[in-house]
Amino acid sequence: MKLREADPQSQFRDELARVGKTIAPLRPDPRVIGRTAFDGPGSEDMTLTVLLARDRVKEAPSQSLLRIVSSDERRYLGIVDAGPFAEPDSLRAESPILTTVATQEVDYLPRYHGRLSVKLLGEELADGTLAPPRFRPLPNSAVYALEPEETAKVLKVDGDIRLGLATGHEELLVGIPSMSKNVLPRHTAILGTTGGGKSTTVAGLVRQASKAGMAVILLDVEGEYTFLHEPTRDARSVTLLADRGMAPAGVPTELMRLYHLVGRDTTNAAHPNLCPFSLQFARLSPYAAMAMMGCNEAQSDRYLVAYEIAKALLRKLGVFPQKDVSQEEADRQERILLRLDDFERGYPRMELSFLLDVVGACKAKVSSAKGKFEPFHKALKTQEGTAALDLEIKAADLPTHAGSWGKVHSLLWRLFRLKVFDKGATLRYAPMLEPGRVSVIDLSDAGLNVLSSIAVADVLTGIQEEQDRKYRQFEGGKGGPPPRVLVIVEEAHEFLGADRIAESSHLFDQVARLAKRGRKRWLSLALVTQLPQHLPRQVLAMCNNFVLHKLTDPHTISTLRQTVAGVDDSLWSRLPGLAPGQAVVSFGHMTRPVLTSIDPSASKLRMVD
Ligand SMILES: Nc1ncnc2c1ncn2[C@@H]1O[C@H](COP(=O)(O)OP(=O)(O)OP(=O)(O)O)[C@@H](O)[C@H]1O
Ligand SMILES: [Mg+2]
Repeated sequence: MKLREADPQSQFRDELARVGKTIAPLRPDPRVIGRTAFDGPGSEDMTLTVLLARDRVKEAPSQSLLRIVSSDERRYLGIVDAGPFAEPDSLRAESPILTTVATQEVDYLPRYHGRLSVKLLGEELADGTLAPPRFRPLPNSAVYALEPEETAKVLKVDGDIRLGLATGHEELLVGIPSMSKNVLPRHTAILGTTGGGKSTTVAGLVRQASKAGMAVILLDVEGEYTFLHEPTRDARSVTLLADRGMAPAGVPTELMRLYHLVGRDTTNAAHPNLCPFSLQFARLSPYAAMAMMGCNEAQSDRYLVAYEIAKALLRKLGVFPQKDVSQEEADRQERILLRLDDFERGYPRMELSFLLDVVGACKAKVSSAKGKFEPFHKALKTQEGTAALDLEIKAADLPTHAGSWGKVHSLLWRLFRLKVFDKGATLRYAPMLEPGRVSVIDLSDAGLNVLSSIAVADVLTGIQEEQDRKYRQFEGGKGGPPPRVLVIVEEAHEFLGADRIAESSHLFDQVARLAKRGRKRWLSLALVTQLPQHLPRQVLAMCNNFVLHKLTDPHTISTLRQTVAGVDDSLWSRLPGLAPGQAVVSFGHMTRPVLTSIDPSASKLRMVD
């Protein structure tokens, strides 16, 4: 065969004739930002690679949403979970020539394109619902970026309690819908290492929740939130706020109350609405008291014996139920006693010094050293009181062993010496539950850990009872609907830590009860801690919403992975590297968790060094 000199043009014509059809050049659709790539051996289900021209890369930042229209007409939604990466078109990224270009100041930049790893969120059905994908987009499918409004509709991250802006999206607000019973009342955990930005998140949450008309109660262990009524003056925060079109602002002063224990300091003694409060021993369940004081079995037995004697005496002396009251009131008080659950709270009007006297009298009876016992409590000092006490103690079949009685006595005495029980002004819960009210309970100077635990238990019981009362009234046709309540517990590991489960189990039970009733009663809890690994798993399991700031401990992350649903690998792997103020935010109303840049605090935080 004779070789002919190849004429390229005629060769091309011959080839076209052989193929038998001409294909019109692609008329590029300007909305298509890229195309799906072929799969390789490393391809995984639900993950796609998308290739894009260099000038389209900026349209698909990390975490942005994409629509993929497959050539088989199926439509999919996906999210950029890695990339965009820049890859040279015709050279290997690590080729020597590119190394030379980068290191020898050579004026040559080869052509390159973008590559994304996209996680499929689902297949979009004709009516817009997102279904689990049954197929995979075909290679070379067109990829579109979603408009901001559409992104907002898909992600459903909006809410009137503004938290911040979603990363990778234009001006996409991340918030919590304050009216939804399915979100906050299913409880929240705010987690992150020291300096991750938890307190800033909490400060914002408090102000925004109050603005949304919720009643907010904040158990402030370190006294960080005692200036929330003042706008921030921190120059950096002011600049960052302005960048988001926000201005410094405190919680309106008339809405904020700052509570602290009587005789104990607060970190802001100049607060305009300062409310010292004393603890009511009567609110404290005997079981909680014993656990928190660390009573052993022998001590607990004696404590409970004394407790029963004290109850009988209170009835006999007409302290509770009261003597000389109307029949209606007497009936009401009896009903209270019928409903009383020792595991939830103590006997009404039982003061610490009253029980201390009873224990003292018991100790005196079993002790060999005979001396006259002098009661302390005013009701027992009277002739009638002393006689009644004598009678009860004589009749009682007391466990022996003066040493154990002595120990119970000294444990109670230690509490008594703190001078915070039954000292007049107790916490009034009704005002705390007014819409918009912010009650900061400063426990920074509580000293003994047991004291803060007792205070927290007291507050939780009080709020729960008050909210129950409001619900009963409402259901009985009296009064409006009870307020939506948010209770925030800072340093939650200190109260609910797994290592302190013996002392804190009652507090845990109480929190669990509150959590369970919360949904019906519109009581929501937010637990804040830098040591989530110290929280028992049940505590995290109560929470349905999460704000995850920087977390570095791999063990903690792997534990959380079993609890928090819907956070994909790429977000988990980002947790250790998050900057202060960044968080993975996952709330019940959201389609999926979003990486969020939390707003700086508009109100003043007293930073703890
Ligand atoms: N949303 C934010 N925007 C800008 N900066 C922030 C943000 N959140 C935190 N920061 C910065 O990080 C610092 C620490 O934040 P913050 O006190 O809220 O952390 P934390 O997690 O409460 O720490 P700790 O565990 O010590 O209480 C702040 O002083 C601030 O500089
Ligand atoms: Mg903090």
